[in-house]
Amino acid sequence: MLPTRYQLIEPIGQGGFGCVASAYDHATGEKVAIKKIVNLFEREKHFQKKILRELKILRHLRDHDNIVCLRDLILPPCFELFKDVYIVTNLMDFDLNRLMRNNNQPFTEQSIQYFLHQILRGLKYIHSAEIIHRDLKPENILLNQDIDVMICDFGLSRSVAHGEYPDESKYVVTRWYRAPEVILFWDQLNKAIDVWSVGCIFAELLCRPPRQVFLRGSNFKDQLDLILRKCGTPSDASELKGSSAGLKYYFDHYANVYYPRMNFRELFPDANPLAVDLLERMLQIDPDKRITVDGALAHPYLEDMHDEADEILCPDVFSYSFPAQASMEEIRQMMYDEIVSWHNEQRMIEMDERKKLVEQMLISLNNNSNSNAANVPAHGEMLHDHTMNISGLIPHAPTSGSSLKQLFSPGGISSNGSGMSEFDNSPNFNETTSLDQDDFMNL
Ligand SMILES: Nc1ncnc2c1ncn2[C@@H]1O[C@H](COP(=O)(O)OP(=O)(O)OP(=O)(O)O)[C@@H](O)[C@H]1O
Ligand SMILES: [Mg+2]
Repeated sequence: MLPTRYQLIEPIGQGGFGCVASAYDHATGEKVAIKKIVNLFEREKHFQKKILRELKILRHLRDHDNIVCLRDLILPPCFELFKDVYIVTNLMDFDLNRLMRNNNQPFTEQSIQYFLHQILRGLKYIHSAEIIHRDLKPENILLNQDIDVMICDFGLSRSVAHGEYPDESKYVVTRWYRAPEVILFWDQLNKAIDVWSVGCIFAELLCRPPRQVFLRGSNFKDQLDLILRKCGTPSDASELKGSSAGLKYYFDHYANVYYPRMNFRELFPDANPLAVDLLERMLQIDPDKRITVDGALAHPYLEDMHDEADEILCPDVFSYSFPAQASMEEIRQMMYDEIVSWHNEQRMIEMDERKKLVEQMLISLNNNSNSNAANVPAHGEMLHDHTMNISGLIPHAPTSGSSLKQLFSPGGISSNGSGMSEFDNSPNFNETTSLDQDDFMNL
């Protein structure tokens, strides 16, 4: 059951797991997104692991402007009744896929640089925690009207620190954003696969509308073929990484084939040559030769955006690995413990904050006791401040950047009159667009 604290507004996203809806949070007065996963423990085990991993990673990566922020994990009534999971995050207005498909104007140079920089900034933080995202694609890049950019969906992510090998290889990275070594089943966890995916997103941003997915393969073979035709067959076969079966497939089919790398300047005739240079470095077949996130951030194309001091690292490495043979019931217990531990942590934060407030109040009382008693806040005022601070404990989405709307092509993203206007009319929770609570529960 969804607590009365949340009032549902409308469905906003559909994923492999179930659905995401927007909701009004009465406790903070803000809108949130709630991802609902029903009957989780009736599904396959890999799916349960995916959700548990997502909870843990979202908790770990909570403090970054370019990563969706975990706001709440809804506490089930008790362990026996625990079957659905609700993940509450800050609400964003749309994802990059919707923006790219609905906006029929080319992006300005500055907006492309801005998007790419923000994605790389978030990815730098993720990689510094020794996490590989493994499913970067436009649908997993969220945006809002203020053009904050946030990476979401950590269900396929893995901890490199723990060397946790992805055992459900058929669930890696959406095909069109998949690096060649992933297609060829390389068994090494490598941050370079995320750089490839960002390169594919970058290529789409550079396209003039109607934007095409840069490498839109219709199956695994077709995907590999497209990559090789555009990025060239490697002159030295050792540049190609894969499992023995993957490499066998390659040599069976491509040993005598030579595709030169296409001229990317011709593929993107309107693009800044520096953008093309960076793209080529991101779409290197050999993961060892592919530019790193740090290298990309420092590339001359992003010179105007780059500020190393502002591209922060995660203070702690994420090193979680599943017990190899965890049963479904053990995963259920781990997930329940995770949610309870989240609530305990929140309580501790609240208590700390209260303690600080009381200390401040005492200092203020002490300072004022000899001078003017009128300076001491009245009880009502103190209560108000206190409430504000408690709700302020929940990290807010960054609000800066509203001027970035002007970065976009004429009319900005919200007024091009073609499909994007829906974002202008984002539902007010008081209006009739409200999603009936029962509908969401039944979705
Ligand atoms: N915080 C949010 N604010 C706004 N929209 C969101 C938010 N979280 C998710 N969405 C929307 O819901 C969609 C699905 O969410 P998410 O990617 O987390 O689910 P998933 O099932 O894990 O995805 P996939 O289908 O890639 O496996 C996103 O692509 C996005 O459009
Ligand atoms: Mg997704």
